[in-house]
Amino acid sequence: MLWFLFALTATAEDDAVSAQSMVGHFEASTHAMLAVGTGELRDARRQARALAKQNGVPAPLKEAAQVLAGCHKIDCSGPAMANMGQTCAACHVETGKGPRVPRMTQLPGRNDRERHSFAALFMWIGLVTPQEGAWLVGVGGAVPPTATDETRRNVRPIEARFAQLVVAAEQTVDWYQRGDLFGEMLTLCAACHDASGLKND
Ligand code: HEC
Ligand code: HEC
Repeated sequence: MLWFLFALTATAEDDAVSAQSMVGHFEASTHAMLAVGTGELRDARRQARALAKQNGVPAPLKEAAQVLAGCHKIDCSGPAMANMGQTCAACHVETGKGPRVPRMTQLPGRNDRERHSFAALFMWIGLVTPQEGAWLVGVGGAVPPTATDETRRNVRPIEARFAQLVVAAEQTVDWYQRGDLFGEMLTLCAACHDASGLKND
């Protein structure tokens, strides 16, 4: 799933922040993001703790990871995750360095299920880089395929709210607002998976 990571060219420079450690941040934070989205908060906390302890982790990132590591409820984890993404982006903007993401116009994935996961991944890549193209491709595919099962009636309100957030995310060009929307979306990802009967911890 993290195929594109290997497409990013690592450049060895005498920077305080090395490309190699960045790939580590990327992996751990992406793993945490997907864990939050699927409601596996214990896994998310574990990733966050590991990230906070990594050698040479930049101070703002360490703080963001510590906040996530302390979250035991989804209402806290979603926003904490989004906040971490904003921390990544803030430094990339400030230093004028960061991930180079190949230009994308459509989501990869062979089926709805894969595209559904990739949509979240691309929103996340968009947020941490920050890169408009990746964000928009992710947001464009974020609404999950509609549940048709009548027994899943409690999924509907979640679906409806999620769709509203997606519209808002498509309309705003403000990265802070995008981050906030992503944080709220993450809480609903987990809620919908729960209501849909997907397993988590
Ligand atoms: C304090 C500043 C700072 C923070 C915080 C930061 N980055 Fe970076 N990031 C950089 C710099 C500088 C580079 C360029 C490094 C290089 O080319 O050696 C970079 C490069 C990257 C790369 C590309 C690495 C490569 O192989 O070229 C990725 C991926 C990345 N960052 C992800 C993240 C993620 C995800 C976060 C947050 C979890 C994050 N970064 C937080 C400064 C930061
Ligand atoms: C309205 C309901 C709903 C929302 C919102 C939703 N999902 Fe899902 N998601 C599902 C359903 C249903 C499946 C199972 C699909 C299947 O099995 O074909 C799924 C599956 C997944 C899977 C695959 C799990 C696996 O074990 O392979 C991932 C990853 C995922 N979702 C991430 C997310 C993220 C991240 C978000 C939020 C940005 C999100 N989803 C929002 C309903 C939702």
